[in-house]
Amino acid sequence: MSLLRICTYPESILKQKAGAVKDIDGALQRLIDDMYETMHTASGVGLAATQVGKDNALFVADVPSGDDKRLVIAVVNPVIVESDGQSSIEEGCLSLPGFRINVKRAARLVIKGYDRDGRELVLEARDLLATVIQHEMDHLNGVTLIDHASLLKREAYLKSLKKDD
Ligand code: NI
Repeated sequence: MSLLRICTYPESILKQKAGAVKDIDGALQRLIDDMYETMHTASGVGLAATQVGKDNALFVADVPSGDDKRLVIAVVNPVIVESDGQSSIEEGCLSLPGFRINVKRAARLVIKGYDRDGRELVLEARDLLATVIQHEMDHLNGVTLIDHASLLKREAYLKSLKKDD
């Protein structure tokens, strides 16, 4: 496994809609394993392929799910088939170091897609997992967390990036 470089805002790949995966082969499974390693090393709870510069509709997530358990998933070609309710959790993003905002999202969803082995997957998600999935699926549509922010917050963040240079 190897660590991948995480693209940061405003790199153009983050604005790109990811292409559908046609074949879950060894190369894609290696990418998934590298994405797990990259996400864990960066202490993230989710990572989309476009964030590591790959044009693939695929994300990984690792979210606490009660007691000491965690749910670790990779979803290829995810599609939302049901969504309801509303929640707003403070979110961050590995592509936006230091940026955090609350985003209104569905509180519960059902997604369909494929797992690392190419098996069809149907997953019901609530709370944090539902938020993480919507955040990662945003990435696959070329939408970054900062696109949900007000113009004022966006400009303040861009200004803070320039200061760091
Ligand atoms: Ni993100």
